[in-house]
Amino acid sequence: MQGMDNNLLCADRVIKALPTAVREVLQVAVYDTVGSTNDVLREKKGQAALHGTVVIANQQTEGRGRRGRRWCSPAGANLYCSMGWHFNVSLEMLTGLSLAVGAMVAEQIKTHLGVDLQLKWPNDLYYKEQKLGGILVEVLGDEAGGRSVVIGLGLNVNMPEEAGASIERPWTDLKSAVGAEVDRHALAGAVVAGVADGLAQFAESGFAHWHAAWCRRDYLSGRSIVIDGTPPIAGIACGVNGCGALLVESEAGQVAIAGGEASVLEIGAAS
Ligand code: BTN
Repeated sequence: MQGMDNNLLCADRVIKALPTAVREVLQVAVYDTVGSTNDVLREKKGQAALHGTVVIANQQTEGRGRRGRRWCSPAGANLYCSMGWHFNVSLEMLTGLSLAVGAMVAEQIKTHLGVDLQLKWPNDLYYKEQKLGGILVEVLGDEAGGRSVVIGLGLNVNMPEEAGASIERPWTDLKSAVGAEVDRHALAGAVVAGVADGLAQFAESGFAHWHAAWCRRDYLSGRSIVIDGTPPIAGIACGVNGCGALLVESEAGQVAIAGGEASVLEIGAAS
């Protein structure tokens, strides 16, 4: 009963919120309920045809986070969005993609809502020590002439308290950051447009273009952290390198960590 609920996103209004130039290069579909917006795109036939396809859902029943975690996706409250993109670049060049997308989203939210988010390596968006969003990039494999990726973005926008109570780690939403309910159509338009522009730029210059912007928002910088693994690596986080690997000053000297999960060791800080 989409038309009866003002809280539900509809495609026409999201498309209207896009700048005309962006509108012409994207195909945007809005669903009421899906398992996972990433899966809707993954199941599409013909990877190259994914390029510029955007799937947004009002609710996800199987929303996925990194490392097999569940992504809390109640109806009509937040932004659950996936974009398909085809890159004519090597797999190596895609290493910093999820970090770059984090920077693109954070910059858009600053411009659109005036909220300054931080970026927690590798893929989390934070506000005041609490997680506000996350990015799940899935590479769909090799193809003649490049690779297609599905970029999933989950943003807590107007999270209902009851739904949020099921999230195991400290979380927040844009409504709390702004102090008022956030218009999700305008937000979706701004974020989708910013990411679409940013991905076109990424195809030219890779993560290098976002490196400085990412480091300005680095949540872990200077903190005492541990990276899970066998063995775990402990040390002080000191930024990311040009490929998006986390730099950690450890007992063994500076190491660059390409993947994993970082937890903050400081008492009172969120991990
Ligand atoms: C994380 O922080 O672990 C990543 C969360 C990514 C969630 C988004 S919501 C839209 C897209 N569909 C999914 O199932 N996951 C991503």
